[in-house]
Amino acid sequence: MTQADDLVQLAIDVAREAGELARRRRGEGVEIAATKSAAADIVTAADREVEALIRRRLAQERAGDGFFGEESGAEAGTSGLTWVVDPIDGTVNYAYGIPEYAVSIAVVEGEPDPQHWHGLVGVVYAPAMQELFTATVGGGAWFAPTTAGGAPRRRLAVNEAPTDTGALVATGFGYDPATHVGDLARLGRVMPLARDIRRIGSASLDLAAVAAGRLDGYFERGLRPWDHAAGALLVEEAGGVVGGLPGQRPSTALTIAAGPVLFAQLEQAIDGR
Ligand code: IPD
Ligand code: CA
Repeated sequence: MTQADDLVQLAIDVAREAGELARRRRGEGVEIAATKSAAADIVTAADREVEALIRRRLAQERAGDGFFGEESGAEAGTSGLTWVVDPIDGTVNYAYGIPEYAVSIAVVEGEPDPQHWHGLVGVVYAPAMQELFTATVGGGAWFAPTTAGGAPRRRLAVNEAPTDTGALVATGFGYDPATHVGDLARLGRVMPLARDIRRIGSASLDLAAVAAGRLDGYFERGLRPWDHAAGALLVEEAGGVVGGLPGQRPSTALTIAAGPVLFAQLEQAIDGR
């Protein structure tokens, strides 16, 4: 067993526990606790409660590791490892009762900054759909339904280059209305490559879908580290490429994910040169 194998098992256990809590709370009704960066950027009581559960469980099991979560901030560790957590990715879907929301948990090594870190483990769990996506560095990306008696786990692979029908590409739009003109212009530049567009509403599930071949590619401006930390490793371990601005790692300025051929095409189209 490698270190990543131990860590992924803990990440899976915690993500499933956290996901069941989110699902239970959803059934009881959603309480909007606050707005964040913009009026449309909401946080529910469940986002906070689920992150608190994850943070508590990780502190018990991995006291020396750092933590970097969407709702409760960052705390440096001593081990060189950091857990990067989005307790509910797809909060607007969650609030509206759309099942595409997920618990996203990654373990990264090195400076807790996506330009510099190395992903070791990525787990994305969608409790309303009972779908679990996992990856360890060098160990591949995997899909496992968590329904009782569900199908056996299977290894993920991104799609090959799309044919002349064009690519199925997902994207997202920032919460801040001031960014929408730019978002739509970028989408306009990608349209000639696309057979159709999807806006799923959860970046981690967009990335998991690229890894699983349910999408050919995905791009979005405005993501935060916890939105893409786990999903990026899923895509890379499924044979895909994840990047940001030309030659960079994914960042808030841009995230692109696809198989190698489409990645290059998306990068060029988005750049607009
Ligand atoms: C959001 C989702 C959404 C993306 C936003 C993210 P949240 O995360 O991933 O798909 O378009 O940029 O902020 O707020 O639901 O955790
Ligand atoms: Ca979130």
